Order: sequence, then C-alpha cells, then structure tokens
Amino acid sequence: MGGGIAAYKACEVLRGLTETGHDVRVVPTEAALNFVGAATFEALSGHPVHTGVFTEVPEVQHVRIGKEADLVLVVPATANLLAKAAHGLADDLLTNTLLTARCPIAFFPAMHTEMWEHPATRDNVALLRSRGLVVTEPAAGRLTGKDTGKGRLADPADIVDLARLLLAQPDALRRDLEGVRIVVSAGGTREPLDPVRYLGNRSSGKQGYALARVAAQRGAEVTLVAGHTVTLPDPAGVVVQHISTAEELRQAMHMAAKTADVVVMAAAVADFRPAEFAASKIKKSDDHPDPTITLERNADILVELVSNRTPGQVIVGFAAETGDAQGSVLDHGRAKLKRKSSDLLVVNAVGDGKAFGMEDNGGWLLAADGTERSIPFGAKAQLAASVWDAVVGFLKDRASLDRGK
Ligand code: CTP
Repeated sequence: MGGGIAAYKACEVLRGLTETGHDVRVVPTEAALNFVGAATFEALSGHPVHTGVFTEVPEVQHVRIGKEADLVLVVPATANLLAKAAHGLADDLLTNTLLTARCPIAFFPAMHTEMWEHPATRDNVALLRSRGLVVTEPAAGRLTGKDTGKGRLADPADIVDLARLLLAQPDALRRDLEGVRIVVSAGGTREPLDPVRYLGNRSSGKQGYALARVAAQRGAEVTLVAGHTVTLPDPAGVVVQHISTAEELRQAMHMAAKTADVVVMAAAVADFRPAEFAASKIKKSDDHPDPTITLERNADILVELVSNRTPGQVIVGFAAETGDAQGSVLDHGRAKLKRKSSDLLVVNAVGDGKAFGMEDNGGWLLAADGTERSIPFGAKAQLAASVWDAVVGFLKDRASLDRGK
C-alpha cells in the first residue's frame, strides 16, 4: 500500500477480501502509515504489519511474503511507487516484495491528474505493462481537495471484484482490447406511468458494469449506457451515459453503435411501456372505477442493432431465463439466439435468488456458429472476462477474413 490519501479506502478492499475468504498480508510504505495506522491493518488482516526489512529478520519477510502470495495488489499505487517498481528500486518491505513476488501483481493508481498524465508516469506505466504487470486505469472524479479529474482510486468493491478475477484467471486483464471501441448497456429501464410511478425491473446493473470495467482494464475505449442500478459508482476508465426509459436507451445505443466495434446489450429493457403517461398523479377515488393500465410494446433494441450493424461489428446479447414447462434455461437461450441473431448470447439462470443483485454469476455462452461454452459460477468480472475472451476471438477471425479479401 502506497502513501496517498486513498490509503483509507484500502481498508475496505482488505475487508472485502477477507470476507470472501482470502488471507491478506498488508505491507504499507512508511508514508501510508501517515494516513492509516498499522493497528487498523493488523486488526482487519489478523497479521502483524511492518514497513521495513529489518523487523522479524530471521523470517526473511521480504522474500517470504512475495513468494507465498498468490496475488499482490498495490492499493493505492502512487506515482512514486510506480516509478520505483518500474526501475526495480527496493528500499522498503513493499518494494522488496514487488521484486521477489512471482505471482500476478496489479497496481491500482491514485494520484493527481497532472501526475498520472506526466510523461514520466506514462513511461513507467507502459514499462510495467510491457512486463505483463497489471496497471489499472484510475477513475475520474473528486480528488483529494476540491479538484476533480482522472486519478481517483477505483471503487473498493470493484478492486475486490478484479482481484478475485485475477486469482481465478491470472491473465484476465491482459491488454488485448487496446484500441477497440465498445459500447455496453447495463441496468434496468423505467417506464413512467405518472410523475411518481413507473414500471421497472430488478436488474442491479452489476453484470453490465463488470463487463465495462474489465473491458476498460483490457485497454478498450468503453462507453457504458447505464439505466437504473443499485447505485453503482461509475467504473474506472469508462465514459458513462445515464438513461432512464427504454426509448432513451434505444436512442443512446443507436448513436453509440455507429462508431463501435463491439456492442453488448446487458441492460434489462422493459418490453412494454404504459400507453399513456398521466401528467398528474393518478388518484384513487370511490366515485370512479380503479384504473386499468394499457401497455404498448417497446422496440427490441438488440434486434434493431443487429439489423443496422456496421461491417465487422460484433454484437452480444444477454438472456436471463428461469426455465419452464416449455423448456430449460438453455433451450430458451438457444431459441433466443436464433430470434435475435446476435454473434454471442450470454445465458443466465435467474430467479430463486440467482444472478439479480448477487455478486456472483454463471451460465452459458452461445455463439451464432453453434458453439456453446459453460461459464462456471464466479465473480461477475469472471463472466465478463469469458465474454471478452470470446469477443477477442471474433475480432481476430474478422480481421483475418478482412486481410484475406
Ligand atoms: N432486449 C432489447 N430490447 C428489448 C428487450 C430485450 O434490446 N426491448 C435485449 C436485452 O438487452 C438482452 C436480450 O435482448 O440482450 C434478451 O432480453 P430478454 O429480456 O431476455 O428477452 P426478450 O426479448 O424480452 O424476450 P422474453 O421477455 O420473451 O424472454
């Protein structure tokens, strides 16, 4: 942990990791302890906390901690720490650990925009990435003082999600989507009935946000068209456009899709909207019969996007299914892929407390060419990584087809 004001957020990351069953050793720099005391980290991790190599010398801690770790997270990574790591400087326990670790190492930067954009930092980040280390994009937003900009530490829950992904799949954040323009929709739409009421759904938005977050960390230029969610923070490195109704989502998706290489419809779109919007609140009355709500059909955005696709564009749909007397979750998914004609369809089982609002997800990835892959249950970032692996496959196939023309 580096010495930046965001060090206090590392406590939440630590909590999130220990609560998901991980054993965490905290190695702060001296500067980090100016922001959060060692006792806090010791209490939360259950391990002693040291900053130098001259405590517990017989244990050779700087070698042991690095060798024993399955993953090293640097939260927050200051400009100074990135510079030291890039050049192999080792003057404390943390920087020594970075040199002895043979597991994946991921840096979560936090610094002022000027420092993040400085050519020295850019070069250090590029050097670390070229060695296969993960340096994530910071978020944009409020910085230490009144200023705002790029350089804010990613949200702690998002860091935990990415850490779980790296533990399951160490190369999941390789930068294989660099230069790829992606638009992802997420969350639920709301169809207004009167000024205080709407028809909505239970989508939390977490899966769509995880897709956007992982794509941005793999180097893509990501636009997230976000409906209603369980108030999720904007993912780091992503441009977010907020919408409310299915019609607003439709317009935003058509606009963004014009320049996108990949389009993912993870939003839970209302299939129907009230045919009429009451300009004032609908009142109950003993003098009139209770109102009947007439619904009309919203456009199927995914189908429209598929029929308007630009050459080479990859389109991914989602299907949340419960299974019924007519067929299993997978049967419904296969039928939906045919109906929607997207390149890929991610099929999830929902209901019975599964998927909606939960941290974990699993399912199947069905491709238009008939290939089917099951995605094991895991962090939503893991499902996201499997989707991007498949998308990268499509993009490569299409690029080689283009070259062959
Ligand atoms: N979708 C869409 N526009 C709609 C409805 C759905 O673009 N009006 C997209 C979703 O974002 C998702 C896919 O279509 O990618 C499947 O959504 P789903 O709600 O499962 O399917 P429906 O077409 O609504 O079919 P049904 O409700 O009959 O299962």
